[in-house]
Amino acid sequence: MLTHYPELTLDRWARKYGPLYSVRLGNQPFVIVSDPVIAKDLLVNNGAVFSDRKEMFIKSQTIFLGRGITATRYNDRWRKHRRIATLWLNPKAVDRYAHVLDFEATDMLKALYDNSKKGAHINPQTYAGRCSLNNMLTIAFGFRTASIHEPIVAEALRLSREFMNTTGPMANLVDFIPVLQKLPSPIKTRGQALSRDLVATYGGLIKDIDTKMKQGVPVADCLAKTMLEMQEEESLDDLDMAILVSAFLIGGVETTASVMQWFTALIPAYPHMQARAQAELDRVVGRTRLPTPADEPHLPYCHALIKEIERRHNPFWLGTPHMASEDFVYTNTNTAADHPHTPTPARIRKGSVVVLNTYSMHHDASRWADPLAFNPDRYLGDATLSSASANLGDARARDHWMFGAGRRVCPGMWVAEREIWLAVSRLLWAFDMVQIEDKPIDLNEYDGLSGRSPVPFEIVLRERFGGVGEVIERELGGFAEMGMGVKAE
Ligand code: HEM
Repeated sequence: MLTHYPELTLDRWARKYGPLYSVRLGNQPFVIVSDPVIAKDLLVNNGAVFSDRKEMFIKSQTIFLGRGITATRYNDRWRKHRRIATLWLNPKAVDRYAHVLDFEATDMLKALYDNSKKGAHINPQTYAGRCSLNNMLTIAFGFRTASIHEPIVAEALRLSREFMNTTGPMANLVDFIPVLQKLPSPIKTRGQALSRDLVATYGGLIKDIDTKMKQGVPVADCLAKTMLEMQEEESLDDLDMAILVSAFLIGGVETTASVMQWFTALIPAYPHMQARAQAELDRVVGRTRLPTPADEPHLPYCHALIKEIERRHNPFWLGTPHMASEDFVYTNTNTAADHPHTPTPARIRKGSVVVLNTYSMHHDASRWADPLAFNPDRYLGDATLSSASANLGDARARDHWMFGAGRRVCPGMWVAEREIWLAVSRLLWAFDMVQIEDKPIDLNEYDGLSGRSPVPFEIVLRERFGGVGEVIERELGGFAEMGMGVKAE
């Protein structure tokens, strides 16, 4: 019941057993949280208790080797790694490399424009994947790829996909039955291979940069350089650095790319929404320049469209679970008391894995009328960015829970939001996206163990007006003058 589409099972149980219930798998108790107020009470208000991570056998021990940010326990090593990652992900840092995100979105547009002439069928997956990959490569290593055919594109996307297919909060029995961990198993072999490949690929790129720095060759500012410069002071070993940077390439590529893909999969099915967003763009931005982040507050429908995609198609419905680091008694909620099956006070034992059930929270009919319907209008009154919405005092007013919550909330949300905005607003600005008659888009979700991207599909992109190519060329020309778009040696 929990190996395929576990979010649907957890949702069914939430309807039956209430917004706070527990499940035991092997020797592991799980607490499933399906309500915003309880989520905030536990993960935010009691963050000192609920910010730990379970050292999952496959994900934390086998693949990440107990390092990095995502999988590390709530301890000084995590604080250090999170502090270092934040140096590159906080809002001010994102402003510093805003031109990179701007350039990559424009470059993606250009590739789509060139390849979609004469009604060619386009699979947006690789374009979206390369756009977010280039952003992460530039942030992490200071270089980018010039085309989807460069080997690192396929390899990085393979590594992310393999990660999604070998990990999942509740999917691997071997995570919870210690005796199985000693035996050989296909999933263990795959996890070990993935770990080796991550260290070889991303650790190898750090080594290249290290060599250049030692030779006095100039190196672009990037996370790898930052880590090498502070390696001694922060006592980072090679494995620490390789796994920390892997968190960027795993956590920051498939996720943002998935939202972009959902947009291109969904929008052809809703031509009236597409036309409404484009009319808004024509009115506010016009047809002689591309939309920018500064336009977002003036484009409420485009803004709402993105939030609705994220509500309906969170790429990781069950996020990355937290763990209770001490016994805890939860009493402080009306929501739990309202439900006949939720005992209050509820005892949460030390070591329980706390799963944020965003599927139920995003489909709660008491907040979202007709929750399965795709309807951007529901967000029209919400001008907040999701990164700001995550800090609202009233948990019920938060737009969605895609970025998790509390002290482990996604530190990449500022960059992710910016990337998604640039991609979606510019695709809408440039193209009419239409379905191919004999190739209907399958909106069934990709059945990985943890990630949820659409299954592969193709669409046709038609330039919306004559000057599209010219505007893209002109904007790219501006970047070329800044020396961008040239691959570093
Ligand atoms: C749409 C895009 C993204 C989504 C949906 C997403 C989602 C998440 C979620 C649900 C978590 C777990 C939060 C929790 O424990 O409560 C997380 C953690 C994390 N994310 Fe993201 N993320 C996205 C983009 C990014 C980007 C661009 C980066 C850039 C490097 C990133 C880096 C990380 C890291 C390092 C963590 C671990 C944080 C920790 O354990 O302290 N994510 N993300």
